[in-house]
Amino acid sequence: MIVIKDLYKTYNTGTVKVEALKNVNITVNDGDFLAVMGPSGSGKSTMMNILGLLDYPSEGSYLLDGVDTRSLDERQLAILRNGKLGFVFQSFNLLPRLNTQRNVELPLFYAGVGSKQRQALATAALERVGLISHAGHRPNELSGGQKQRVAIARAMINNPSLLLADEPTGNLDSASSYEIMSLFQELHRQGSTIILVTHEPEIARHAQQIVHFRDGRIVNSEKVDQPLDARRLLEEWLEQGGLA
Ligand SMILES: Nc1ncnc2c1ncn2[C@@H]1O[C@H](COP(=O)(O)OP(=O)(O)OP(=O)(O)O)[C@@H](O)[C@H]1O
Ligand SMILES: [Mg+2]
Repeated sequence: MIVIKDLYKTYNTGTVKVEALKNVNITVNDGDFLAVMGPSGSGKSTMMNILGLLDYPSEGSYLLDGVDTRSLDERQLAILRNGKLGFVFQSFNLLPRLNTQRNVELPLFYAGVGSKQRQALATAALERVGLISHAGHRPNELSGGQKQRVAIARAMINNPSLLLADEPTGNLDSASSYEIMSLFQELHRQGSTIILVTHEPEIARHAQQIVHFRDGRIVNSEKVDQPLDARRLLEEWLEQGGLA
């Protein structure tokens, strides 16, 4: 469970002070699927970086599963990141010289997991995203949607309880977007907590709740009555010849 209280983030770059987050309060329960929307510069990525323990707030508190993250040192933060969190970015962030299999194994490599187990877990993760046949390909031999599925396999290899995705479909065509959303919905059904940033209202409607940021604040939070089913949308889209 995530509890954010009175959170502020101010960036000081030279003489300019940017208040990226101003008094954000939010609670995310285990198993929630949250979409974050808002104009460019409204603080969405700043929020995700703090949630992902990649950055820290200027003021306020962030409790993750009851632990005040302020009290943790770098090593403890790294253990939490490795053990509990998975990240997916718009730009995929795959290492170009490693093949699919090795990219997916990377978090386990950093966690000191032996090569046999790394291979077994990476194979299982690649099966889940339907890319076992591409295990030997390097990123430049994959389509955008395939790269993002590799990134998702990598993000879920340590069975994260919290998956953070910052515009994961931003660079993808419709079919690939539906595939990615369908994977997220499957992870969600299996119990993962998911927080997803998107500019697209239709993508946001795959979540259970949509939170809107503006000028560093949460200005609105709405429940999605009937979340869209990505698997079904993908099938319909393909039936129509993929020309929508
Ligand atoms: N490392 C940084 N140093 C200084 N300012 C920053 C930094 N990162 C973000 N900002 C500023 O903080 C504000 C919020 O940025 P953020 O990246 O969180 O926006 P965003 O909502 O993710 O936008 P987008 O939709 O374009 O990705 C912006 O004004 C941005 O310029
Ligand atoms: Mg952003």
